[in-house]
Order: sequence, then structure tokens, then C-alpha cells
Amino acid sequence: MNVCILMGSMKKNGNTEMLSRPFVEQLKSQGINVEYIWLSDKNLQPCKSCFVCQSTENIPGCSIKDDMENVYKAILNSDCIVFATPIYSWFCTTPMKIVMDRLFCMNKFYGNTKTHYGLLENKKCAIIATCGYEIEQGADLFEESLKRFSNHSHLDYLGMLAVRDINGICDFETEEVIQQAKEFAVHIYNACT
Ligand SMILES: Cc1cc2nc3c(=O)[nH]c(=O)nc-3n(C[C@H](O)[C@H](O)[C@H](O)COP(=O)(O)O)c2cc1C
Repeated sequence: MNVCILMGSMKKNGNTEMLSRPFVEQLKSQGINVEYIWLSDKNLQPCKSCFVCQSTENIPGCSIKDDMENVYKAILNSDCIVFATPIYSWFCTTPMKIVMDRLFCMNKFYGNTKTHYGLLENKKCAIIATCGYEIEQGADLFEESLKRFSNHSHLDYLGMLAVRDINGICDFETEEVIQQAKEFAVHIYNACT
């Protein structure tokens, strides 16, 4: 089983990475292959709404040639996609938003053939989020978006691990939070096997 983690944090060793570490360790200890992608290190251009992808079949078919080509490969190779992001302005960070928009090409709903199938169908997805507000007022809008995105793309949404940043990095190093992250990994493992 392969899990692709799209890390949207802009900060190495930041809160979101700290929360993701025990999650990744737990998955690996259960024999899962984890592909971990730092989106902020990649050259990712925004979708330009050319619709070229909609005239292709069985491939992403995006006309933009940048690092997204490798992200597409990792996603297509995965059973579960994890969107890991700090909440910025009640949503994900910019590179993650670019990735979400660029996944438009995975659904062939709008071309001449109107075949209505998606390359993400039957895959699973989940969120890891950190935010300053309480979860219900910090990560709620992004979660709702991911739920609709999943419904649209026929992805199976498995839930969100979200932890609040009150005192900085130490909030993410407690035994309780580490345990929460490991339990979320077990939940993902069980849902995928
Ligand atoms: C530019 C910016 C925007 C933010 N916007 C929000 C927000 O809208 N809601 C929220 O709850 N927290 C917000 N935060 C707080 C971050 O989500 C929080 O500190 C997070 O844990 C940072 O994770 P990181 O260390 O991985 O960057 C914002 C932080 C920054 C830097």
C-alpha cells in the first residue's frame, strides 16, 4: 500500500511537519510505502484554465510542464493522498491550493467525449492540519472543501487530524499529540487494507 503525503507547510521543522512525523513513522512501521512531497520546494505553476487536459484520456494530460508531473505520478501511484497543511486565511497554503486546482485534469468531465470518469476514483484521502484558531473555526472550511473535492472526484474521504497551535512547536511534541497522530495513521491503515 502506498500513501502520498503532500506537505503544504512553508516551514521546515514547523508545526505541521512535527505533527506529521509520528504519523509517518507509524505508517512505515506497519509496512506502508510513504512518498513525502514538500510542495514549497517544487516549481508549481497555477492552472491556467486551458482545458487541454479534458481532451485526453487515461493520463493527467496537463499542458503545463513543471514539477507537477512528478506529483501526478506520486498521486496516481498512491492508494491514499494526505493533504498536510497549516491553515492560512482559513484555507490551505498557496502551493497546496495550486495542487488542488491542478488536479482538475484528473476528472474528465468537461471534454468533447464527456466520459465522466476520474483518474482518482476509488483512492482515499485525508487531511493533517494545524491552525491557530480552535479547530472548528480554523480548519473547518478547508475540511469542507476537501469533502466536496472528494465527492466530486469520487475519492473516499477518511477524515482529518487537526491540532491547534497555541504555544508554538511544543504543542505538537506532547505525548498526547504524538499518540493522536499515530492513532490517525492506524485509522488510515485500517481503512486502506
Ligand atoms: C500567513 C498565516 C496565515 C494564517 N491564517 C490562519 C487562519 O486563517 N486560521 C487559523 O486558525 N490559523 C492561521 N494561521 C496560524 C497557522 O495555521 C498555525 O500557526 C500553523 O500551526 C502553522 O504551521 P507551520 O508551522 O507548519 O507553518 C496563520 C498563520 C500564518 C503564518
